[in-house]
Amino acid sequence: MSDEPTAETPASPPLSTGDIPETFQILSNREPYEHTYDNGDIAVSKPTGGLTTALDGVLQETGGAWIAWGSGDADFDPSVVTDGNEFRPAAGHDDYVLHRLDLSKREVREYYYGYSNQVLWPLCHLETEHVVYDESFWTAYSAVNERFGETVSTDPDGVVWIQDYHLALVPRVVRDGGGDAVTLVHFWHIPWPPVETFETCPQRRALLDGLLANDAVGFHIERYRERFLECVAELVPSAAVETDAGTVRYDGRVTETYVAPVGVDVRASAPPDELRSNPGWQRKKAAYDIDTSKTLAVGVDRLDYTKGLVEKLAALERVFERHPELREELTLVQKVTKSRERIPSYRRYDQRVLERVEAVNARFRTDGWQPVIYINERFDRESLRGLLRAADIGAVASRRDGLNLVAEELVYGTRDDPAVLLLSEFTGAAELLTDGPVRINPFDTRAFAEAIVRAVEMDDEERRHRHDQMLDDIERHSLHRWLDTHVDLFTRRLD
Ligand code: ADP
Ligand code: G6P
Repeated sequence: MSDEPTAETPASPPLSTGDIPETFQILSNREPYEHTYDNGDIAVSKPTGGLTTALDGVLQETGGAWIAWGSGDADFDPSVVTDGNEFRPAAGHDDYVLHRLDLSKREVREYYYGYSNQVLWPLCHLETEHVVYDESFWTAYSAVNERFGETVSTDPDGVVWIQDYHLALVPRVVRDGGGDAVTLVHFWHIPWPPVETFETCPQRRALLDGLLANDAVGFHIERYRERFLECVAELVPSAAVETDAGTVRYDGRVTETYVAPVGVDVRASAPPDELRSNPGWQRKKAAYDIDTSKTLAVGVDRLDYTKGLVEKLAALERVFERHPELREELTLVQKVTKSRERIPSYRRYDQRVLERVEAVNARFRTDGWQPVIYINERFDRESLRGLLRAADIGAVASRRDGLNLVAEELVYGTRDDPAVLLLSEFTGAAELLTDGPVRINPFDTRAFAEAIVRAVEMDDEERRHRHDQMLDDIERHSLHRWLDTHVDLFTRRLD
């Protein structure tokens, strides 16, 4: 959700960073700071999302380099970066440097909008009808991965922590470029698909070859790791997979796999009751006429076809059809963030969702009420948290989702006034929040609608009980646990 700047959020508190290596580098497609021209000035914003904020907090603490695509239009202004395209964030450790890669328009089109988001993203989310195999996409993806890889320092005592599906070939580039001894750890933030889907990818071998050049590859949940190992076993004949140990011996190296779900930053979050009076949220609430005395179902999603927005609206429509008593009582506040808009299937989806919202509103609206309040506008971080805090029901309907951090944020953000979480079975979060959510299948409109009614009618005792269970799970899988797991992993690899 990088297209929305956020207000400053408190950086994550320190890790046990004593063991962070001398040369520590983070690689991701998305950068933690973006500069843009703004009426003759240059504005800096932090792209949204828990991950860049958390990793930024780590580098502020430890120092190190972050290598990422410079996506802001003022990112390379000489008043912002050095000749070497380096930007030093003012906050934090003196050695913290953001190294920006200046990708050409064509590279952005073919590597980011192309292979990353029209091949790997839909493939891994099992949305194969959105996959577009264009030869130029792969060429650009390989070339940009090469550029990232060549920027890495290959100090044998160093650690390179690579994020996500945009950079699958980087580990191989680093090894081939003489970085044989540097520790490479890769975290894959999205689902890993079943072999029957992954094997349809023409570049399947090269992608696996790239990832197997890592010392370790991590996933949110066990199932993704198992599928990854299955793909290696089936598609890379020269690899020896030890399923029980979760390791792969290939090309003279042993790659381990691990499971470590990203989680909520439970230490940085202010108590939710402080948000009631937050002026930003109060303004938004008034502007959108959000009546918190009624039952509010809240959704916060990127405008992405994986998020099940059409399915959510279909279930809601059925609720109002079958339960007229809930009209004027239940409102869905659906906040969306535009995403990857240059991709035709994203633009079409945007249009489709809007049409569905208008149709549901046209059908059931009354004088003083409309069933869906659709918000497609920038919210700062505090206003967003205010919205989450106002939820009586959290509605997460993803058709497929690596984790879905919003689900956990909805629960954590309502800890003083528990919300019911309606959670799609097809999210990584559903494997971690085992008992607390009301699980839904977004494709089963009838059952989804019944689950919404059940959530509206749930008594306080059950609501509280389910919420407590979810809070336990969330605290157990916090963001700090994810970071600590990685620090332990780096330390072990360096010993
Ligand atoms: P995805 O990564 O697919 O977009 P997630 O739900 O896993 O979905 O993560 C989205 C992250 O972006 C969450 O941490 C959410 O709070 C954050 N986010 C969404 N909208 C905003 C916003 N307006 N301001 C700040 N953070 C936001
Ligand atoms: C998912 C991906 C991230 C990505 C984010 C926002 O969470 O796993 O790598 O940064 O979506 O998408 P964007 O294309 O805007 O970076």
